[in-house]
Amino acid sequence: IFFRDQDLSPQQFMAFAQTLGQPIEYPFVKGLEGFPCVIEVKKLEHEKVNFGGIWHSDTTYLPQPPMGSMLLAKEVPPYGGDTLFANQYAAWDALPDEVKTRLRDAMGIHSARRGYSKDGAYGEKDRESGRSMAIKYDDSALKTQLQPIARVHPETGRIALYVSPGYTLGIEGWPQDESDEMMMYLFQHQARPEFVYSHRWSTDMLLMWDNRCLIHAATGGYEGHRRLLHRITIAERC
Ligand code: SIN
Repeated sequence: IFFRDQDLSPQQFMAFAQTLGQPIEYPFVKGLEGFPCVIEVKKLEHEKVNFGGIWHSDTTYLPQPPMGSMLLAKEVPPYGGDTLFANQYAAWDALPDEVKTRLRDAMGIHSARRGYSKDGAYGEKDRESGRSMAIKYDDSALKTQLQPIARVHPETGRIALYVSPGYTLGIEGWPQDESDEMMMYLFQHQARPEFVYSHRWSTDMLLMWDNRCLIHAATGGYEGHRRLLHRITIAERC
């Protein structure tokens, strides 16, 4: 869901978020001064790496992943920088029946290690580019957390495919080669064009989404321009 023309201060953005749920701190990015739950998603003219540029649902490496997230566009490049969303109900529904049967009770192994551990594959690339975002690389990112692959949405009762190349390392208890093969298949399947919506930003646009049935990814394509959004994560309802 998005709303245009929301020229909100961090305080106003927080107040809006609190009407919908409980804002929480993002584990590996320092919040704004005085607003620990509001982070800046920022890419300057010279930077190459997009924060959130790999398909993911937010912080699925936590025991209780968040219900939703919100982005508020502060500076938007003249072209590029869209955010992609892929419908994971549709992705699950479109899987062949034999794959659904194999996955119905399977647990995915999730971790933040690729992005946020000290020598994580994505983090290393970010550090080389002299990134401006307040990212806290930390080996607590090495922890793993199991999540159901066929996740029942707690409000709609529908099954959504709940894996992502950002955070899912494999399938618990499966031989490595079978797990790797299934992961590669699911990562390609879940982002098929027919499941994807591409969101074009304008300044002061506020957008929010449900992390339990969507994956998302930031795109680039605006080298030489700035992009800045404020972001709030909303906890799962207890
Ligand atoms: C994110 O993953 O929260 C960032 C998305 C974006 O910058 O478009």
